[in-house]
Amino acid sequence: MNGLEAKVAVVTGASRGIGEASARVLDAMGAQVVLTGRTVDDLERVANELGNNPIVVPADLAKPGAGTDLAERILEVVEGVDVLVNNAGIPMRRLPESITEEEIDLVFAVNVRSLLTLSIGLASSMKSRGGGSIINVSSVAGVRGPGARVAYAGTKGAVDAMTRALASDWGPDGIRVNSIAPGLIATAIWEESRNTIPGLIEDMEGQIALKRWGFGDDIADVVAFFASDSSRYVTGETLVVDGGLARVSASATPQVLPELLE
Ligand SMILES: NC(=O)c1ccc[n+]([C@@H]2O[C@H](COP(=O)([O-])OP(=O)(O)OC[C@H]3O[C@@H](n4cnc5c(N)ncnc54)[C@H](OP(=O)(O)O)[C@@H]3O)[C@@H](O)[C@H]2O)c1
Repeated sequence: MNGLEAKVAVVTGASRGIGEASARVLDAMGAQVVLTGRTVDDLERVANELGNNPIVVPADLAKPGAGTDLAERILEVVEGVDVLVNNAGIPMRRLPESITEEEIDLVFAVNVRSLLTLSIGLASSMKSRGGGSIINVSSVAGVRGPGARVAYAGTKGAVDAMTRALASDWGPDGIRVNSIAPGLIATAIWEESRNTIPGLIEDMEGQIALKRWGFGDDIADVVAFFASDSSRYVTGETLVVDGGLARVSASATPQVLPELLE
């Protein structure tokens, strides 16, 4: 897929995982990519392999004011923005009884507050260019009610709700806002658990209809769809990209009495 020539695409959390894969796909489609995250070495490693004059703008999105500040710094180095991939996010695996207020604030600061303030900070640029596409990365955790991740699930449900609300606010300006809810994607976010919890990989695979974990590319290709004109009449949607985990039965075994299957 191409068609993003002369467009500028911002990707948050572009230093690895889903964000890195998204930056690569958008660059391959012809966009100039602005890569952001905290780890400058990793951002530069990714940028060095891109072909359309990529720009690195580091930011810590946990800090108050970070989204607004980042938008201002981006608009100092590019003439405008057409695509924004709000991908940066952190996990928070805690039982409700053990999570602290500080942890709740942190996960909401990164996953929700900065996503919204960065979007607001870049929307006027998109409006002045005739529109744009904002792609928020949420999670199946916001759809299906996972155990021991109440605050994380809350942030991702908020992302999907804000996606619909912003699609309403900015539709008249030609800005489309959609979200992607990934399932189990084998990135650094899972690395420790995959290495330390025996049987986790197989157990999780058993819950997925397609019987495999996802990879960054599986999500990046959907980012490409939402960034491109192919999705020109889609806004306010959440697309679950999980190989059949959240809303699909992972077993072909009939779950009703055989006599009811006729
Ligand atoms: N992997 C999955 O199974 C899965 C499933 C559903 C949803 N998701 C969502 O997908 C998104 C990407 O996840 P991933 O799996 O690719 O995770 P990852 O490999 O851990 O990457 C997370 C990215 O976010 C950036 N980031 C984290 N904290 C940040 C902060 N305070 N300020 C700025 N950037 C920050 C990281 O960059 P630095 O460390 O350099 O700052 C990194 O580039 C997240 O929103 C996640 O919730 C992932």
